[in-house]
Amino acid sequence: MVKAIEWKDGKVIMLDQSKLPIEVQYIECTNYEIIAEGIRKLWIRGAPAIGIAAAMGIALGVQDIKAKSYKELIKGLDPVFNTLLLTRPTAVNIKWAVERIKKFLRDNKNESVQRLKELLIEEAQKIHKEDIEVNKAIGRWGSQFIKDGDTVLTHCNAGSLATGGYGTATAPILVAMEQGKKIQVIADETRPVLQGARLTAWELMQAGVPVTLITDNSAGALMKKGEIDLAIVGTDRTVRNGDVANKIGTYSVAVLCKEHKIPFYVAAPMSSIDFSIPKGDRIPIEERSAEEVTHVFNKCQIAPDGVRVRNMAFDVTPAKYITAIITERGAFRPKDLRKLMKKDINLDEIRL
Ligand code: MRU
Repeated sequence: MVKAIEWKDGKVIMLDQSKLPIEVQYIECTNYEIIAEGIRKLWIRGAPAIGIAAAMGIALGVQDIKAKSYKELIKGLDPVFNTLLLTRPTAVNIKWAVERIKKFLRDNKNESVQRLKELLIEEAQKIHKEDIEVNKAIGRWGSQFIKDGDTVLTHCNAGSLATGGYGTATAPILVAMEQGKKIQVIADETRPVLQGARLTAWELMQAGVPVTLITDNSAGALMKKGEIDLAIVGTDRTVRNGDVANKIGTYSVAVLCKEHKIPFYVAAPMSSIDFSIPKGDRIPIEERSAEEVTHVFNKCQIAPDGVRVRNMAFDVTPAKYITAIITERGAFRPKDLRKLMKKDINLDEIRL
């Protein structure tokens, strides 16, 4: 499967997803500023992938800090953390990665500065590797919801390109196929940046998954015809009450699913769950440039000059539309999600 990001020989190699599927171009990142630029410009995108990119950005950033002590090193890292945190607001994974690295540094504060620099490279690579394992576990828990012969609708791209590998929403599909089930995927094109058309269709075709591309406004008609059995999407931030932020248009898909009695699942690694926020209306929603709407691929103009544009990159789907949230720890009803905050919880009591 195609890799979105990789640590190689002291550099970060990032696939420039903004050019896919027309060009497959890799960017060599040698400092954290390039990583931040790549996150902002969607060279790398998808919540878990930008979390991994942030961790690798920190590992690059720390190498250039001239510090003699732990305290100086932490001070030197401040601008690195802040730059990365300010790139994109909705996905919680950047904050998750920064907090994990801060804790890692505290836990290893007695190491020398040089050793800490080496350890941060290892930790960033560990975060990457763990994400792939997390996705495989999501796949194992999620495959139970897919029957032989099912057609699965997905929105945006929550596949290999959006993660360390294997994907979140795509993982149950891949596992179901490994189990011998015959599955088809319908991919929403996902305006305005077309992650469904450019990325999901592209990567699923490469993985040998039968995929059909539809315009975003086709899903309802296909549901009415009985051509969709279930929907699985990813998430940028899922909060305590089970409300889910994901790519704009996800909410409409969820409402349509409810109307047609089609199960609607969210694949959510624990790194995308933000227990600090009680409900979805508190999730910051990124608004992006008008050009993403008025132009295709930043080139071809499709709207009149000067037209007023509103370009919200994400929406929030209320928990009541969600059949289950599939994590690496199991699949749960949205109302049970908050129970995962407790350390002594018996997961078998709440797992689906
Ligand atoms: O703007 P993007 O492309 O970063 O948005 C990505 C999504 O909304 C994905 O569905 C989400 O991050 C889940 S990725 C496993």
